[in-house]
Amino acid sequence: MKVVVSVGGSVLAPDLEPDRITEYARAIETLDEAGHTLGIVVGGGPTAREYITTARDLGANEIELDQLGIAVTRLNGRLLIAALDDRAAPTPAESYEEGREAIRRGDIPVLGGIVAAQTTDAVAAAFAEYVGADLLVYATSVPGVYDADPNDDEAATRFDELGASELVDVIADIEMDAGSSAPVDLLAAKIIQRSGIRTVVLDGTDPERVVRAVEDDEFDGTEIVPEA
Ligand code: UTP
Repeated sequence: MKVVVSVGGSVLAPDLEPDRITEYARAIETLDEAGHTLGIVVGGGPTAREYITTARDLGANEIELDQLGIAVTRLNGRLLIAALDDRAAPTPAESYEEGREAIRRGDIPVLGGIVAAQTTDAVAAAFAEYVGADLLVYATSVPGVYDADPNDDEAATRFDELGASELVDVIADIEMDAGSSAPVDLLAAKIIQRSGIRTVVLDGTDPERVVRAVEDDEFDGTEIVPEA
């Protein structure tokens, strides 16, 4: 199966402690050894947020802040590449084409951000569409898609399954609430909708959950079902 896995920065590198990154590398190697074709997208996490906060105080504009965010996602990508030994392409892919070429060579591409004004949620969806992935997995700090922000609202309930158009509607509602964070952003939801890629959003704090989702189709999270 061809699988794109998006690993949120707060899941992969909540700090610079190496263990979680090693565990993710082992999980990716398990899927690789099982014969899956993989593409990995990593986020910026708290380190990106710290850089962005400082640069904003220094007067950087939004595009400059995005460029800083992209740089941090690629630094996180380099950490994962370091842990993946020789199976990964040696540098983070800076374009979708570069990522696809790595797959053709038989390497595992690791991507961070690609262009300003989006997040790695959209990168993962676009890359999955570009390479014709069978499955897109979001390993995030929010264990699925909820009808409200579960960090703010105790009554928030998780969807086990959603159609892609329903996902777009749910995310649009959540994003209307200033400050609340959705597990997948609206651009990513729109790409998932148009591409018809089967997508799973799950709690990525334990990388074994990603392995189980891909290998056994077993997960505790939300499945986004393509529409005809
Ligand atoms: P993330 O994808 O980690 O942002 O990219 P996020 O979703 O806000 O972070 P998490 O999921 O909560 O950890 C970090 C930042 O890098 C820039 C954006 O500024 C983003 O907020 N970025 C990333 C881009 O501008 N373009 C990209 O393609 C990716």
